Amino acid sequence: MGDQEQPTGGTHFVGKKDELIKAKRTLRTLEGRDILIIYNQEAFYAMDAYCYHAGGILENGDIEEIDGKMCIICPKHKYKISLAKGEGLYRGTDRRQDPPVTKWYSKGVKQRTHIVTETDGDIYVKLSEELCWIDSDYFQGEKGKLERAKY
Ligand code: FES
Repeated sequence: MGDQEQPTGGTHFVGKKDELIKAKRTLRTLEGRDILIIYNQEAFYAMDAYCYHAGGILENGDIEEIDGKMCIICPKHKYKISLAKGEGLYRGTDRRQDPPVTKWYSKGVKQRTHIVTETDGDIYVKLSEELCWIDSDYFQGEKGKLERAKY
């Protein structure tokens, strides 16, 4: 990040808006954490760069709208993760209904997301302050890094 980093309160300069829009996907390491910044349909998102399931690199995942939520599809095993909240989504069938109903369900927040803001054409990421464990945290730690290296 060099001299442009602004490490006040966990908020970091990550690039010029124009550059990040052009790149669409940008990786940054902030406070030792690898973050993927995504520009999609005129909005920015930021999330942990490695999938909560097994550490797949999300950078090149397709983005699709699923059940009204924009999601990135992990290239590794195709898990769906909502861009805004990091929810893991899956399709399931409720067999208690007659006839059985197949629909999308949420596993809850699985991928840590971060807050993106803009000031005068500069884009900043404020790292999540959520204290509870989120599954994607594992692949940002030392053990998770070793496990990622196996793939
Ligand atoms: Fe992402 Fe398995 S590592 S779906």
